Amino acid sequence: MGTPAANDDAEHQDIKQGSAGDPLRYATRYHAPVLCKTVVASLLTDQAGCYIDGTLGGGGHSAALLDALGSEATVIGVDQDADALAEAEARLAAEIERGRFRTLRGNFGDLERLLLDDGIDAIDGLLLDLGVSSHQLDAGERGFSFQAEAPLDMRMDSRHGVSADEVVNRWSESELRRVLRAYGEEPRAGRIAQAIIKARPVPTTTALANVIRRVVPTREEVKILARVFQGIRIAVNGELERLEQVLASSVRLLRPGGRIVVMSYHSLEDRRVKRFLRYGNLDGEPVRDFYGNLITPWNELTRKPIEASAEEIAANPRARSVRLRVAERREE
Ligand SMILES: C[S@@+](CC[C@H](N)C(=O)[O-])C[C@H]1O[C@@H](n2cnc3c(N)ncnc32)[C@H](O)[C@@H]1O
Repeated sequence: MGTPAANDDAEHQDIKQGSAGDPLRYATRYHAPVLCKTVVASLLTDQAGCYIDGTLGGGGHSAALLDALGSEATVIGVDQDADALAEAEARLAAEIERGRFRTLRGNFGDLERLLLDDGIDAIDGLLLDLGVSSHQLDAGERGFSFQAEAPLDMRMDSRHGVSADEVVNRWSESELRRVLRAYGEEPRAGRIAQAIIKARPVPTTTALANVIRRVVPTREEVKILARVFQGIRIAVNGELERLEQVLASSVRLLRPGGRIVVMSYHSLEDRRVKRFLRYGNLDGEPVRDFYGNLITPWNELTRKPIEASAEEIAANPRARSVRLRVAERREE
């Protein structure tokens, strides 16, 4: 279990900052992946290992990993969105042919089952680049954006689950208020929930945006719309529950010495990731042994989260809010 109180030791923080290289090297029109060089440097420990990209998207991070890995390595890309799988499979067709890359459709909350069905019970690295891709936001018809007229959907996996329409048009006022407050972190949740209930039925994204615009100050409109849409999206996709599930399964899947890299884009995610990678639990409560060592499955390698450089943010505004954390699985 290491030396006394090793986890609190500043020397343990061996990954400190992002290095951009060319920040758009792996960008496509589908999505521009963030902190590619840092992801590669943080995740890879074995040139011939088996790595999971749990949020495949347009395959940008997978492409970067494959470029850095040896010929014996495997990368498995997981996504619940059919568009992402089609995009990444086309992009990485040559790697599929070489047997270094394959995809699995499903929710990363079910990662253990997905991998077991694929014959895998231990991995060397897991990458999670949370949230939605630029493609999902840009594809107006999916209903993720308040800027494009679309039915209220917002499901990343269009095969199942409740849609945004159900949340907006059927959930009770108190449930709606809770979603906007807890997941959107919106201070005017009460007023907005009330306005939505009164305006029902609310048929589309832009109709919803207009209902909200009527009850909030114009100068704060864009920020509030972003928060409300984020809150509904998190509820629709069960994003925080799914994150908690995949964090728990990462402990069982990663080999000792293997690493997890998680990129969060808002504090609700980052808070959970930080607690779990620091303390090995989601309560954020340190549990210590007789010597004062934390009892945790992790060596936390980023005491402070890594952020994108000003250069990367200028090239890719989505990088503005990223917080990247890394931890290494300890020996049992
Ligand atoms: C930010 S994008 C990832 C972009 C990717 N790193 C790249 O380089 O293109 C997040 C992706 O993760 C997927 N995703 C989000 N939550 C998921 C979950 N619970 N299970 C599976 N896929 C998920 C989304 O559908 C989306 O394609």
